[in-house]
Amino acid sequence: MQSLEMNWAAVDSYANDLFVPPDAVLQEILDRCDREGLPQIQVSPNHGRFLQLLARIRSARSILEIGTLGGYSTIWLARALPEKGKLISLEFDSHYAGVARRNIELAGLSDKVEVQVGDAHHTLAKMVDEGAGPFDMVFIDADKPGYPTYLPFVLKLCAANALIVADNIVRRGAIADPASTDPRVLGVRRFSQMAAQSPGVSGTILQTVGRRGHDGFAILLVEK
Ligand code: SAH
Ligand code: DHB
Ligand code: MG
Repeated sequence: MQSLEMNWAAVDSYANDLFVPPDAVLQEILDRCDREGLPQIQVSPNHGRFLQLLARIRSARSILEIGTLGGYSTIWLARALPEKGKLISLEFDSHYAGVARRNIELAGLSDKVEVQVGDAHHTLAKMVDEGAGPFDMVFIDADKPGYPTYLPFVLKLCAANALIVADNIVRRGAIADPASTDPRVLGVRRFSQMAAQSPGVSGTILQTVGRRGHDGFAILLVEK
């Protein structure tokens, strides 16, 4: 590992040790995800806290998540909700969704969180048709080539002054590499272009470094 990356990991651990106390429920959830063979691509603990802080700063009462996996980021976000708050999380894989539901139950959040199984493209179209929402915050973290298609649906489902956060936007800097032909890079780049050009959307891209290397979030405020 390069020394720079060692520093990134060390500072990640430092912040984690200071601000993210050991949590037996979250640890058990990560262990279960491992045992069930889920890929280890959850947000880091520090980023879970970051998402939770954003939800609290926004006083979010309704949250939409695209890409549940085992429910790790879901639980960080749902813990920010007030008593009657709701989170809907969309997941393509029914095995992952089952693991997530059991994890959400362990976290005592089953009354606030609903996991909907299916391709998010279809689920989102249905949600728009049915007048679902509006959502105060949306976390986009599913398949990267899908991000550009998700954005128009998400904008329709947003409340006034909603916050949209999209994960894995920077991809080790590849977003700024015009030669990239990786469909994930093209997806997050198109998403970012569309967001930047959407009327009433103010945003930026925040680069992150840490245990997972160099990546970043798109953070968008939807003023409608
Ligand atoms: N947010 C999670 C990690 C999500 S990983 C966390 O931080 O804990 C990305 C997830 O998106 C995977 O579980 C994958 O199955 C799901 N996914 C991929 N394509 C999808 C699609 N078209 N619709 C819904 N979910 C999808
Ligand atoms: C990967 C990481 C992610 O955060 C994600 O949402 C999907 C994939 C990865 O490292 O492959
Ligand atoms: Mg991600």
